[in-house]
Amino acid sequence: MASREQFSSKTGFVMAAAGSAIGLGNIWGFPTQTASNGGAAFVLVYFVLAFCLAYPALMAELIIGRHARANVMTALRGISTGKFTYRLGTAVGCYGVITASLILSFYAIVAGWMLAFLLESVCQILGWSDVSKWLVSFSFERNIIFMALFMMLTISIIAKGVTGGIEKWSTRLMPLLIVILVGLIIYVLIQDGASEGLRVYLLPEFSQINPRLIIDAMGQAFFSLSLGVGTMLIYGSYLSEEESLPALGAAVTLVDAGIAFIAGLLIIPAIYVAKQYGAEIFTDAGQLIAGPDLIFQVLPVLFKSMGSVGMVVGLAFFVLMSIASLTSSISMLEVPVSLAAEETAASRVQATWAIGAIIFCISTLILLNFDALFGFVIDLTTVYSQPILGVLLCIFVGWIWHRDNLLAEIKKGHPEIQGGFFWKVWPTYVRFFCPVLIMTAFIQSVV
Ligand code: PHE
Repeated sequence: MASREQFSSKTGFVMAAAGSAIGLGNIWGFPTQTASNGGAAFVLVYFVLAFCLAYPALMAELIIGRHARANVMTALRGISTGKFTYRLGTAVGCYGVITASLILSFYAIVAGWMLAFLLESVCQILGWSDVSKWLVSFSFERNIIFMALFMMLTISIIAKGVTGGIEKWSTRLMPLLIVILVGLIIYVLIQDGASEGLRVYLLPEFSQINPRLIIDAMGQAFFSLSLGVGTMLIYGSYLSEEESLPALGAAVTLVDAGIAFIAGLLIIPAIYVAKQYGAEIFTDAGQLIAGPDLIFQVLPVLFKSMGSVGMVVGLAFFVLMSIASLTSSISMLEVPVSLAAEETAASRVQATWAIGAIIFCISTLILLNFDALFGFVIDLTTVYSQPILGVLLCIFVGWIWHRDNLLAEIKKGHPEIQGGFFWKVWPTYVRFFCPVLIMTAFIQSVV
């Protein structure tokens, strides 16, 4: 067998894993969830859950992945201890791969909208108003063309492999994303109305904390850190044994939560600036507009009202959204592709194109039955499957995997960890606390 690819450096891994984590979940999901859950109180709960619940679950994935050096299904089978747990590994692996693929199938549609709005900003600058109008229309043709375009971009990066594709493009795109984000924040914060948004975002009202808010924050933390579906597991499998997993996992969690926080500094003040320009920012029920209307109606009002500067600001915003989507979508596609390339006779390139084509068909099906399927697939994958898979992975690490092997894996690249806080607390924490906490929140949300 050819030797397995590996990230070439620590930075390469952090860029790729942060690239996966930072996506529409941070720049759109987090600010809008914050807005619809009463502002700063949500931010506070989110941060606590990101570090106390999502970080330990992320560590479970990274540790299994680096130990097994394989895709999610082979990895779980590898740490199984008998016939039953082997079969369970196969089932959980399958579930993860299907969930990752379904997430990509709706993500590609939304990311396609971002590409269409990006191009629309270019057409506006060029004065091509007819094309502009078509690009922002919600037609099936527009949706399928841009979804296909986005899938082609994702496929072409994944077909190039780990260092030449994932690492290379994440390292190029992530710094660009941060520069655009910071530039946009500075611009928005000096506009009239921004301070009202800042107040909503930063001053917590503790009375707002309720079970619904906690569940939303947990779901958001899991989605944002790309957990449950085997994405972080496969990225962990490309990590060298010299690296310290707890430190790298902490870096990724910190960067992900940090960017979500910074994105809130952009989006929420921007909504209030748009209000100054006459945009309707509340729904009939009196809630801040949060869904697609926020990105595709409220913010464009803001950009348009700023005249020619607004065209450039709008362009920068949609470039930002497209980059964030792409570095996440490649990590989703890597999950089924790594399985197919490692477990079948297909080459990586063949596997990438074949799976890309299947996901394109699923996305097309969603577009054809948009009202029935779009929300359904999002709920099925992110609200239900990700937390369930998170629990199952914690069970694999805490209950099925032989404890000595687990501890040996943690020690690699970080021998002095033995006796430290992580070493003492984490194995028990993922065994008892994580599954119970996730299940409690999950059951509450379903019931
Ligand atoms: N974390 C990504 C985001 O915030 C989404 C994602 C989910 C990526 C699952 C990979 C796997 O947008």
